[in-house]
Amino acid sequence: MIHRYIAHIQQKTNLSSQEAWWLLEHVLKPTPMPLVTQNELTEAQSQKLEEYIDQIARRHKPLAYVIGWVPFLDLYIEVQPPILIPRPETEEWLNQLIDLLIPKSSQIQRILDIGTGSGVIGLALAQKFPLAQITALDINPAALDLARKNATINNIQNIEFIKSDLFSALKSDQMFDLIVSNPPYIPRSALDGLSASVTLWEDHGALLADQDGLEILGKIIAQSADFLVPNRTLPFQMVLEIDRTQHESVKKIAQLHDWDCAVTQDLFGNWRTAWCNLSTQTSSDHLV
Ligand SMILES: C[S@@+](CC[C@H](N)C(=O)[O-])C[C@H]1O[C@@H](n2cnc3c(N)ncnc32)[C@H](O)[C@@H]1O
Repeated sequence: MIHRYIAHIQQKTNLSSQEAWWLLEHVLKPTPMPLVTQNELTEAQSQKLEEYIDQIARRHKPLAYVIGWVPFLDLYIEVQPPILIPRPETEEWLNQLIDLLIPKSSQIQRILDIGTGSGVIGLALAQKFPLAQITALDINPAALDLARKNATINNIQNIEFIKSDLFSALKSDQMFDLIVSNPPYIPRSALDGLSASVTLWEDHGALLADQDGLEILGKIIAQSADFLVPNRTLPFQMVLEIDRTQHESVKKIAQLHDWDCAVTQDLFGNWRTAWCNLSTQTSSDHLV
């Protein structure tokens, strides 16, 4: 019987069977009865399901916003429009970074997450490195509210959230061992190529940047050195998520500011992550 509903959802939307299952689970959520033993949806549940199908199929609402949360590494992350839904590409490089940092756990004191959005990057680092203090900033107060809520839900305390336009609200003597960021980097010219579920629902201020998407990345690269502790103790001093078209330009901008960056591809084979050290420090040889 459940399969009838899965087929119905799939016929009306472009959800995979796994996603249709999640939607159905969400509809049944307050019902204690296990999904497999319930043969028919109640009237109220059917109505709710049709409402959600309409939101997804006609209004292009992302499934994550319908369900209201996503898993991210070992975190339960609430999501709400228009704060950016965390992406698997981010989860992938962050997982790689955590693996690289684990042997150095005891040396990590302070990490800065720029453009924290729902909080995922800062929270995952805070969770994995409980002795470190994480500062997570965002220009959007609604994002910070959500990130704070996610910190509470996941019972994470070693993180502070600051409303700031990049580094502007930081004190000049605030220094970090590592700066990470998934900033807005999509070139404005690429807006038309994005799916309706992105352009209609997610904050354009979280996605797009001027100067072919390089404006904010450029500012981070130009200013980060002023906020780093003088002696490198970790494999990298700065890790940035970038657009797949930006690997050459980011490396060039980085060189202009005395950074040495290696760029790696994501699980889809796109250039995605810049792993950087100041050129004055030992060059990065930690990536395979
Ligand atoms: C691509 S989203 C990343 C969100 C989250 N870190 C993630 O990986 O899912 C970029 C975030 O940067 C924030 N942002 C945009 N411009 C900013 C600025 N000038 N200063 C600080 N944060 C900014 C946006 O509000 C948004 O939350």
